Amino acid sequence: MKLLLIGSGGREHALAWKLSQSSQVARIFVAPGNGGTATTEKCENVAISDSDLAGLLAFAQEQAIDLTVVGPEVPLAAGVVDRFQAAGQRIFGPVQAAARLEGSKAFSKAFMQRHAIPTAQAQVFSDFESAADFVWTLDAVPVIKASGLAAGKGVILPDSRDEAVDVLRGVMVERRFGEAGATVLIEERLVGPEMSVLAFSDGRSICVMPPAQDHKRLGDGDTGPNTGGMGAFAPSPLAAPAFLAEVERTILRPAIDGMAAEGAPYVGVLYAGLMLTDDGVKVIEFNCRFGDPETQVVLPLLASDLVELMEACIDGRLDEVTPVWRAGAATTVVMASGGYPGEYAKGKEICGLAEAEAAGCSVFHAGTSLADGRLLTNGGRVLSVTGRGDDLAGATQQAYAGLAHISFDGAVWRTDIARARA
Ligand code: AMP
Ligand code: GLY
Repeated sequence: MKLLLIGSGGREHALAWKLSQSSQVARIFVAPGNGGTATTEKCENVAISDSDLAGLLAFAQEQAIDLTVVGPEVPLAAGVVDRFQAAGQRIFGPVQAAARLEGSKAFSKAFMQRHAIPTAQAQVFSDFESAADFVWTLDAVPVIKASGLAAGKGVILPDSRDEAVDVLRGVMVERRFGEAGATVLIEERLVGPEMSVLAFSDGRSICVMPPAQDHKRLGDGDTGPNTGGMGAFAPSPLAAPAFLAEVERTILRPAIDGMAAEGAPYVGVLYAGLMLTDDGVKVIEFNCRFGDPETQVVLPLLASDLVELMEACIDGRLDEVTPVWRAGAATTVVMASGGYPGEYAKGKEICGLAEAEAAGCSVFHAGTSLADGRLLTNGGRVLSVTGRGDDLAGATQQAYAGLAHISFDGAVWRTDIARARA
């Protein structure tokens, strides 16, 4: 089979790595890919942006691609799946109407309310004055969320009502996230540990992956600014089988059934971002795709063929497939450029990857590029170093032992991934 994989982050390198292990796969084109996908077995980068839907479809047609896999949310929310399907191309991911579970937080919240899926209380506003007035009626300081896609930056946790109103002004009036902030959610602030539960679905059946936890703050001890994720581990020790059964019964099952009942069956990976509150488990957000960096720990635990699972989803026969998950655990530690998530330099040479791999790690590239055979930094999050072990402690130890071999100018990473517990 010839595959096209859309995206360029650590998640996509992990997908390319796992897909390339399938005996059914001969070649994988990655659009646009990164320095890691450029050198992965069977893989080749193609210079098409992940938001150039017409260019992606034309490429898939010219190359007679057998299956396209979509990594990021932006092309999904823009309708890449609908477009490929209309042209008779096989593609893995939700259609645009189903991707609204991530693409519109206002839709997602109303959907959860319609289907009694436990979630934080929220009100939706598209007028700044009414939104600001509402803030002063609340007992506690709320969370402010831009409804549309904002590259992971659209959720703000202010410390006071005054600050909440300033945030609303920035989002709704000054449009700091563009049109994504035309509508906002003012949401009840929840407290508790977070967990990411991802599941495959063919629109009817559900197949849950090992639950993961990620570390969003830049600094050790969960301090400093929010980032795209500084590390992750799976399976989460907080997820006993009974807990996962509850998540499936109260969250995933009603979500999949609800989307089908509303005429937009959800096919792809559904990502439930959960908070374990004193009042039970609640949904913070749905994402319409694999997580980053969760994918870098979940896929190394999958023993089965990922292509087979994706095809079963597309063909509506996920109930016939039982994926096999490896025992043990995986931990990934992100190495970032100094200054991230603010300004940072690019073009720093990266050394020591072969040594890290010799130590048993899988090194997934996030922001890297290849220039004249030299591997250079090319983003905020640069690498995601994954270790595996019989248990979480072993996996974490392997990840850090591998990371110790890698260096580039200004590299920063957390030293407490899978060790600090929220
Ligand atoms: P997101 O960008 O949607 O992944 O959200 C970023 C982070 O904001 C989440 O991982 C949570 O830590 C936090 N968050 C989102 N919604 C809430 C909420 N209602 N209460 C408390 N924290 C929240
Ligand atoms: N790990 C958070 C995300 O993928 O959105």
